Amino acid sequence: MPLAKIKHVDAIQIFDSRGNPTLEAIVSLDDGAVGRGLVPSGASTGQFEAVELRDCIPGQYRGKSVFKAIEHVKSELAAAVVGMDVTEQEAVDRRMIELDGTPDKSRLGANAILGVSMAVANAGAASSGQPLYEYLGKGSGTLIPLPEIQIIGGGAHANWRTDVQDFLLIAINAQSYDQALRVTHDVYHAAGKLMAERGSQMGLADEGGYWPDFESHDQAFAVLLQAIEQAGYEPGKDAAICLDIAASDLFHSGDYHFKLENRTFSSHAFCDLMIEWCERYPIVSIEDPLADTDTDGWRRFTQAVGHRVQVIGDDLFTTNLTRIEHGIEQNLANAVLIKLNQIGTVTETIAAIRRTQEAGWQPVVSARSGETEDAFISHLAVATNAGQLKVGSFARSERMVKWNELLRIQHSMGARATWQGWSHQSSAPC
Ligand code: PGA
Ligand code: ZN
Repeated sequence: MPLAKIKHVDAIQIFDSRGNPTLEAIVSLDDGAVGRGLVPSGASTGQFEAVELRDCIPGQYRGKSVFKAIEHVKSELAAAVVGMDVTEQEAVDRRMIELDGTPDKSRLGANAILGVSMAVANAGAASSGQPLYEYLGKGSGTLIPLPEIQIIGGGAHANWRTDVQDFLLIAINAQSYDQALRVTHDVYHAAGKLMAERGSQMGLADEGGYWPDFESHDQAFAVLLQAIEQAGYEPGKDAAICLDIAASDLFHSGDYHFKLENRTFSSHAFCDLMIEWCERYPIVSIEDPLADTDTDGWRRFTQAVGHRVQVIGDDLFTTNLTRIEHGIEQNLANAVLIKLNQIGTVTETIAAIRRTQEAGWQPVVSARSGETEDAFISHLAVATNAGQLKVGSFARSERMVKWNELLRIQHSMGARATWQGWSHQSSAPC
């Protein structure tokens, strides 16, 4: 492959799926290839995440503009990476990390660094004439990931209409990606109809799932189970429930609190409730069942259900290798949510996926609640054979672009594309 060098680095302010400012980096090479990096943004962000730099000027884009980060891309970061070989992704990322000099990328901004990192990857792929998944995976990525798709949104994504952030669906018996999407399509629309008939569907939440009006979490479970049945599937056999509790948002002064049902729980009591839900409902996967600082709770929960339920750390690990290592050592979970902007470079994200896989844990590549029209993560999931992808619901184009990109990748790969679905998991519905 002919060597292409980074010639020019630029950035502009664009807007994410919530209409908030975010950063797009543009990397041009001396062979004419161009790559872009569109940075997503979370709402229920973990306290250990790399820092997204915002201008915080009241009266200017509600304090959310990213002009300082853009300036960092155009000046310091550009000066550091111009002239480097575009295929040296690790070296480029390392140079940016060193230049920033902070453990959380707070000086130059994780949004500035990630924008450039993603743009470099895209430019490298364009220069080599390969699709991004081939380029990033060096030809070894073939696995089309199993989707986790949100049906009902809550928490920080729907003004706390439920305290649980995501009620999701996994097509555990799907024999192909197309079949998984078919099941999701059927259940998503059945749930919407059911909720509309009951007057409990208030619109769409931030990630495209239904914005609910329920009186209890049990009502949400009941609707989900009924929707699966009305769509013609068997709960626990064809389709199972997956939850993201995002429990760090519910944890205050050592207790967990549900606003919806006005209940307060000790760590023990909350852990017991999560275990009880796993026994009562066909739940195969649960993310952030406890808060990111409640290590004892995590250990207790994983010990109780980890042999049969996928236990995913999101805020707990923040895609951070040191935190993942600690989690593996302490048996805190058995799966890791992977978000590029939690850590801030493509290289560190891939390293987090690899370490998770080496430990025999499951990586789940994920979007943010504030997304863009970009499908980088669909390619990342295939490139690394991650096996699972979570990008929100089955509506709104910032979500559908990721599912649709996988259809395109699968189509272009032809017989090389592989599928594992849920069958490779040791966990089964409880
Ligand atoms: P966030 O939500 O992007 O708002 O953090 C996604 C998640 O918690 O998984
Ligand atoms: Zn989460």
